[in-house]
Amino acid sequence: MKEILEELERRRSEARAGGGGRRIDAQHAKGKLTARERLDLLLDEGSFEEFDMFVEHRAVDFGMAEQKVAGDGVVTGWGTINGRVVFVFSKDFTVFGGSLSNAHARKIVKVQEQALKVGAPIIGLFDAGGARIQEGVDGLAGYADIFLQNTLASGVIPQISVIMGPCAGGDVYSPAITDFIFMVKDTSYMYVTGPDVVRTVTHEEVTHEELGGYRVHALKSGVADGAFENDLEALTQVRRLVDFLPLSNREAAPMRECYDDAERAEPSLDTLVPANPNKPYDMKELILKIVDEADFFEISPDYAKNIICGFARMEGATVGIVANQPQVLAGVLDIDSSRKAARFVRFCDAFDIPLVTLVDVPGFMPGTKQEQGGLIRHGAKLLFAYAEATVPKVTLITRKAYGGAYDVMSSKHIRGDINYAWPSAEIAVMGSKGAVEIIFRSEIGDPEAIAAREAEYKARFANPFVAASRGYIDDVISPHSTRRRIARALRNLRGKELSNPWKKHDNIPL
Ligand code: HXC
Repeated sequence: MKEILEELERRRSEARAGGGGRRIDAQHAKGKLTARERLDLLLDEGSFEEFDMFVEHRAVDFGMAEQKVAGDGVVTGWGTINGRVVFVFSKDFTVFGGSLSNAHARKIVKVQEQALKVGAPIIGLFDAGGARIQEGVDGLAGYADIFLQNTLASGVIPQISVIMGPCAGGDVYSPAITDFIFMVKDTSYMYVTGPDVVRTVTHEEVTHEELGGYRVHALKSGVADGAFENDLEALTQVRRLVDFLPLSNREAAPMRECYDDAERAEPSLDTLVPANPNKPYDMKELILKIVDEADFFEISPDYAKNIICGFARMEGATVGIVANQPQVLAGVLDIDSSRKAARFVRFCDAFDIPLVTLVDVPGFMPGTKQEQGGLIRHGAKLLFAYAEATVPKVTLITRKAYGGAYDVMSSKHIRGDINYAWPSAEIAVMGSKGAVEIIFRSEIGDPEAIAAREAEYKARFANPFVAASRGYIDDVISPHSTRRRIARALRNLRGKELSNPWKKHDNIPL
């Protein structure tokens, strides 16, 4: 028995050594941790249970029969994050560049299936060179199996991808189907085809970073939901995110002990909105002042900054916050912000996370660029997402709620449950200047008459009371009481039941 146990230990340590000391050193020299070091940081200490440590590929072409490494370039299994189960896979770049063979794919599919069966999140750590070139079509088949599992699990268990090195070719589409993608600054990049192929096809000279670094995806394309300084920060932040999320759509999000008084008044909010309606203010200040302990996990903080999305807690329970940001493009809804928020709203609805919407929106962004880019269809995504959402929806209009954007931002008309406004709210078809120039066009040459018309329009519409008189707003509340009022609204809605008509699935304007 002693010898058998020693043999087990020998095989285990061989598998743990991955591609060997030289390649591990090269990994460290690039500022990256190894697949196993990453799992140690992601999971609670000592909680990792590994599957398929001894799996090997079966390829024989190109001398592969003689090159086998136990585990085959991916470490899979499960562990816990603050005591709650998560499934994981972590690509090992030191073994064939983390490239995907059929056996490697089967390991990933096994944890995907298990996560779905058990009802627990799955987190993938990516650092790999795409399909194992020596394996040909077997690798492609393996990718498709993974994509299928990703798709089936969408909306059932949270799926999180962290890009911590190269993520090329077939590797990009699994993260793309998951709920959140995070990147590590400067050491990770994501693209469908790399710089060499780009050079051949389009004669464009481009670096890995220019083609698919975090600056591309976390700032411009919106493919990534955030970027972190290094492996440690990325994994720590993923732990923090998981704490906000339910394990699956069958369970409620975890309740956290709340040390923040739900009745807490915040007098400084009474002066948050400037007297001049065109002056910006920071909507994040409002978020941080009303949520529990100012703890806010922002999604895509550097992309489409005119809308803010993220998770927070009210009285210990997770909420999804969506808020226009008047500091960026006056908080206007454009293509990018509509897509960003629509995805977030749908995630929250799928996982039963109540939505708190903070509105200060001057409308949809005008212009040829936006129209040619399909603002109609992309704006409709957000409208659709809010309209179909059946989770508790609490809305607060702080200042502007103009035009179609008023309807879209979780208004009463699309099943907002409790809708509040501050006294500074202006709920109207458009701003006074634009409105007067249209309805009193014949008076445009007469500045005095126009000024009088504007004053008349403002007096009539630049307030929340017309909407309140129709019942479109449930109450006009004092800014300092916002935390208390929203917390109470959410408490009131805990028993909410609402369902949509039966359908195979919807046809959201994609
Ligand atoms: C087999 C691979 C590999 C691959 C890397 N390696 N990619 N082995 N298949 N796809 C191996 C290398 O041979 C090397 O082995 C080790 O991994 C490290 O690779 P390096 O090139 O030395 O590392 P680095 O300089 O950091 O470059 C990383 C890289 C580069 C940019 C990812 O390796 C690369 O361009 N790889 C190929 C990427 C690619 O075109 N993949 C196929 C995509 S097509 P040794 O033994 O020297 O350590 C695809 C289609 C699927 O994925 C579509 C499904 C929908």
